Formats: sequence, C-alpha cells, structure tokens
Amino acid sequence: MVSFTQLFTAGLLATSALAIPVSMPVTVEVQKRNSTTNTSKRGAAYNDISTVSALASSGTISWAYNWAISLSGTLPSNIDYVPMLWGAKDFGGWFTAVETALSSGSEYILGFNEPDMTSQADMSASQAAGYYKTYITPYSGKAKLISPAVTSSTTAGMGLSWFEEFMGDCSSCGISGLAVHWYGNTADEFKSFVQQAISTATSYGLSEVWVTEFALNSDAGGVADAATTATFLQTVLPWLDAQTNVTRYSYFMCAENYLLTNNALNQAGHTYTS
Ligand SMILES: *[C@@H]1O[C@H](CO)[C@@H](O)[C@H](O)[C@H]1NC(C)=O
Ligand SMILES: *[C@@H]1O[C@H](CO)[C@@H](O)[C@H](O)[C@H]1NC(C)=O
Ligand SMILES: *[C@@H]1O[C@H](CO)[C@@H](O)[C@H](O)[C@H]1NC(C)=O
Repeated sequence: MVSFTQLFTAGLLATSALAIPVSMPVTVEVQKRNSTTNTSKRGAAYNDISTVSALASSGTISWAYNWAISLSGTLPSNIDYVPMLWGAKDFGGWFTAVETALSSGSEYILGFNEPDMTSQADMSASQAAGYYKTYITPYSGKAKLISPAVTSSTTAGMGLSWFEEFMGDCSSCGISGLAVHWYGNTADEFKSFVQQAISTATSYGLSEVWVTEFALNSDAGGVADAATTATFLQTVLPWLDAQTNVTRYSYFMCAENYLLTNNALNQAGHTYTS
C-alpha cells in the first residue's frame, strides 16, 4: 500500500518540479567545475539553488540534484551537479541540457522520478526501458548512468519489483547504479529497505545504490519534531556511510522547514551536515 504521506510527498514534488519551465534557455557554462575534493556520499536535494550554500558550507556535502535537467543558477564550488531526466515532460529540452551539464563537469545522470507512481513519472517498466535507451543510454561512457528512482512500495509492480521488471528490458542500457526513495516510520525499517535495495542491485551486477529521497513519514511535509528527526539521522547516516555499496544519498530535502529555517541550518540541518 502507498501511504497517504507518500502520495502527499509525491504531489508536492510534482508541483515543485513542474514549476520549472520546460523551455527554459540553457546557459552554457564556460568554466568547468572542479571535480569534488570531498568523497562524502551526502548530497543536497533542492528546488531552490540558493538554499544549497547553507548545507555546502559544512564541507560535508559533495553533490546536488534538483529533479531537473539543469541547475538553474550556480552551485557552491566543489559540489557535483547531477542532472535528472524526471520524465516525459523534460524530453524536449533534454539533449541540450544534459550535454551542457556533462561539459560542465557532471559525472552522473539520474533516470526518471518514481515511474512506479501514477502521480510522478508514471511509466510502465517496458515504456521506461524504451525511453531510457533513447535518452540516457547514448551517454554511457560519458557519464555513469543511474536507474530510474523507484519508491519503497512493496506492492507488486511498484518499488523494487518495478525495477526488476525494468531491468528485464534494460539489461543492456549501460546502467551502473540503482536509485531508490524511502518514506517510513523507523530507522530499522529504513536499513532493512536499503539492504534489500543493495541485494537487488548486486543481483544485477550493479555496485552502486543511490538513496535520492528519504525521510520519516512524519517529516515528508517538513520536519515535524526536531529531536525525532535528529535521532533518526544520527542513527542512519553513519550506517549509510558504512555501506560500501551505497555510494550517494540525499535526505528529503534541502529546503525551508526541512533542513533549513530562515535560510540557515536548523537542528535537522546541523545533524545532516555534521
Ligand atoms: C568531507 O566530508 C566529511 C564528512 O562526510 C568531513 O568529515 C571532511 O572534513 C570533509 N573533507 C573535506 C576536505 O572537506
Ligand atoms: C578549482 O581548483 C583550483 C586549484 O585547486 C582553485 O584555484 C580554484 O579556485 C577552484 N575553482 C573552483 C570553482 O572551486
Ligand atoms: C556490493 O557490490 C559488489 C559489486 O557488485 C558485490 O560484489 C558485493 O556483493 C556487494 N555487497 C553486498 C553487501 O551486497
């Protein structure tokens, strides 16, 4: 079952992602960003690029993404930008935008956003495999390719079972990592889901797992209780860092009322970046 909170979160993301105009002109950056000097797995998932500097000033954030094909502004130095092909709405601007990102130093590409959810990228596994081959596989060898990001739903045809069906059609798509999202109630539930994701990835020969959205259900609309969130993060972050096959993760999300209050790190933000 998909919880109300998951649907709520999904709707929220769809709204924020859609707020970015599809036909936005792409500014070509002439200066190549330096490759990151920090091997931290920790990232910033943002809609508003001006929020990233508060997280990045900690020195513990190495990468960022915004569910979008281009970064909409400038990131702090030494933060790797990862472009994402959210879904069909971005096909038109994709090739120009991704080539700009790659020539500016991006080393990875993220696939579709929750294609297993009707409120999100909403694709069958075989449709998604076809689109992946058209839009993302051509960049194999120029970037490392990450799978569509699936939810933690355990309903048949969703979550990791959607991914397995997708890989049935996309075994030659050049994918090197599995991306997953998680919303749930406890740190133990989270670890158990990520362990399942690691073993699923390993069974397809993928050595990377990216957790590109995660939060307690109670925090999906913003941090509800700062102490609970801090305890959750203090439990799962060292654990994620210790999982060799989890190579990148980003808490949901780098935004006001989540990791920030009045544009500065709040208690959750301090915990996430320490
Ligand atoms: C990189 O991030 C880690 C935390 O993940 C931090 O302890 C370390 O100081 C950072 N290193 C640099 C060079 O910024
Ligand atoms: C890139 O690295 C060089 C050499 O370490 C440094 O001088 C420069 O300021 C860096 N540029 C950015 C944008 O971080
Ligand atoms: C991590 O990935 C490597 C390479 O795919 C694999 O050999 C190893 O078994 C994986 N580790 C776990 C815990 O699944």
